[in-house]
Amino acid sequence: MLNSTLIEATRAGAAEIVRFFRNEFTVSNKEGVNNLVTEADHASEKAILAVIKSGFPDHQILAEETGEIIQDSTYKWIIDPIDGTVNFAHGIPLNCVSIGIEHNGEMILGAVYNPHLNEFYFAEKGKGATLNDKPIHVSSQSKTIKSCLVTGFPYTYINAKNGPLEIFERFIRKGVPVRRLGSAAIDLCWVAAGRFDGFYEHKLEPWDSAAGYLIVEEAGGKVTDHEGNKFSIYQHKVLATNGKIHEEMIGVISGERMLSEF
Ligand code: IPD
Ligand code: CA
Ligand code: CA
Repeated sequence: MLNSTLIEATRAGAAEIVRFFRNEFTVSNKEGVNNLVTEADHASEKAILAVIKSGFPDHQILAEETGEIIQDSTYKWIIDPIDGTVNFAHGIPLNCVSIGIEHNGEMILGAVYNPHLNEFYFAEKGKGATLNDKPIHVSSQSKTIKSCLVTGFPYTYINAKNGPLEIFERFIRKGVPVRRLGSAAIDLCWVAAGRFDGFYEHKLEPWDSAAGYLIVEEAGGKVTDHEGNKFSIYQHKVLATNGKIHEEMIGVISGERMLSEF
């Protein structure tokens, strides 16, 4: 019932994305210069919440656009109605719905659906991860220098040591391809599917990482903060890899290690 409601809610949000995509919609700005929210974000979130509330009216909710519903329940739904809103607003088909479910503080279910590519990623704690119902696994690449990485940049630039551009430069100067898709949930799922070997970002929110985090772990990958500590969706820094390049990436991100070629 929980699984089917999660799938139904994810599909309901995605139907709103499809309805508005490359059509007319209103756009407004949140905090930051290009931190957009569109009519479609609100419509998707509304559709998702309607499904959840009809199935599990007493569950807690943390939704990007409408905020928190705190209730006396051990379950919490963590919702990003459109991850990749800037892509969405520009007609770029790299955006998705992302919903994770936490039980007693632990992620137990995650769903990410990109309706434009018809890619539905799903994971249940202890039961593996799937893409359109077929099992997925992280890559087997063991060298960062041979890896294909992905990252994202926050709406407001972080001017700090080991900041986004500094780390980006470390990889790029060594010739390591680092892509930037504009949807953290898709980035994480593409690590889970073995397309990317690693992903890092500096300022994610719980709704960006909740579902993708579980999907990567259930696909055999590893997710921590930038120092290798146990990951929590409530902290901002994320490093998700196939596990094999994890330590090396931590070394490069901290600046303590240079990339070796062999
Ligand atoms: C954003 C995307 C982007 C990431 C940002 C997020 P939004 O989410 O995931 O890839 O770099 O940090 O805020 O605003 O499109 O839901
Ligand atoms: Ca997001
Ligand atoms: Ca969003």
